[in-house]
Amino acid sequence: MSTGDKPTASPSAASTGGTPEMALAAAGDYAAISKPHLSPILGRYYERSWERGEGHTLYDSSGRGFLDFACGIATTSLGHHHPAVTQAIKDQADKLLHICNALGYLEPVGQLATMLAEVCPKPLDTVFFGNSGAEAVEASLKLARRVTGRPGIVAFRGAFHGRTFGAASITSSSISYRLGYEPLLPSVYLTPYPNVYRYFGEDEEAATAGAMGALRTLFAHEIPATSVAAIIIEPIQGEGGFSPAPLSFLRELRALCDEHGILLICDEIQSGIGRTGRMWAFEHAGIVPDVICLAKALSNGLPIGAIVSRRDLQERWGVGAHGTTFGGNPVSCAAGIAVLETISRQGLVANSEARGQELMTALQGLMAKDERIGNVRGRGLMVGVEMVKDRATRDPDTATGEALVQACADQGLLVLNCGMHHNVIRFLPPIDTASEEIAQGVEMFGAALRSVPGA
Ligand SMILES: Cc1ncc(COP(=O)(O)O)c(C=O)c1O
Repeated sequence: MSTGDKPTASPSAASTGGTPEMALAAAGDYAAISKPHLSPILGRYYERSWERGEGHTLYDSSGRGFLDFACGIATTSLGHHHPAVTQAIKDQADKLLHICNALGYLEPVGQLATMLAEVCPKPLDTVFFGNSGAEAVEASLKLARRVTGRPGIVAFRGAFHGRTFGAASITSSSISYRLGYEPLLPSVYLTPYPNVYRYFGEDEEAATAGAMGALRTLFAHEIPATSVAAIIIEPIQGEGGFSPAPLSFLRELRALCDEHGILLICDEIQSGIGRTGRMWAFEHAGIVPDVICLAKALSNGLPIGAIVSRRDLQERWGVGAHGTTFGGNPVSCAAGIAVLETISRQGLVANSEARGQELMTALQGLMAKDERIGNVRGRGLMVGVEMVKDRATRDPDTATGEALVQACADQGLLVLNCGMHHNVIRFLPPIDTASEEIAQGVEMFGAALRSVPGA
């Protein structure tokens, strides 16, 4: 990786005219100014200090470059300092930062909604903008309850939908997201996700049958289907372990929702916007949900979130039933327009599929040589590598999962871990990544694997 040119001298407190922390910060240690007054609540993958990004490289404050296959958790999918996105942001910032959309209409907001309607399958053509993934999820739940007049929300065990109370109530990828927050939203029911590798011996049919059976049991014993407003699903469980739902399961789920008048909400916040080799991960199954939740990569790093549904649902939701001050901010929307234009102009959904195949094949090659890799799975450029203590028992190897994240960074590669046991390494390269970068990333991952004890 190339290195930058930031000086690494350490000015004294006196020379910076401030506190010892400010002197450390001036030398590039931003933890020193961050730790005393920032809440300790955020878990951090790294103790590193970051300075800037260029293309697919993130630079730390010493000027060292890292190949960024984390993308700010699937957000900077076009890499850093993207010329079209940066220009769109600058142009809109020069024009207007904010009015609040309740005050009227703005070109970038209307244009992004139009473009989203074009990239969503029919009849999904109506957009409500918020600021984040959790806000999109909240909006979808409120819409579902108001429009159906039913209370029940069904979500999948191991899902991650966000940190607000509604979103946390349907989140169970870690107990820490729920602990101490009860009572959570009432009338929420959790049902098993068809996690093919962990619970169903890699048998997709068994996973589909098992998870559908559990849903039917739920309707028979705990809440009648006629009281359920919505079922919300990540077509590929993200934080829960990069686990793709079998396509047959998604089709059967769609049919079940149709049978009972239940709205199907697909949370595409991590998997959407071309990440999986389709614009939306549900497209692999050939289904159309009633509501899509999206955020993250839509504006390549500026805050945005949205739901998209067919028009009549949002008409029935009712004027004033929901709202926002910042949601659909024109600068974020201008960035979103540049993102969607770039994806279309450069054929990046197809690139995500092709590079994803290369990544999957290369990682499977590593798996053939390393017993600690129990499974490689995913779609497009959303690929997980599950580390296990024993391939036969699939006993999760948390220590190796944690150590690998740091070992990869030592090699110059940024990847994150996920899963209930933190033992799944997730690869989220930019969707405009090149074959050479995939090869480079896998080589660094291989070196990291060899450096972690147990190799
Ligand atoms: C699938 C999914 N849903 C919802 C969220 C919450 O998004 P946000 O952090 O923007 O609120 C996330 C964030 O990681 C996510 O991966």
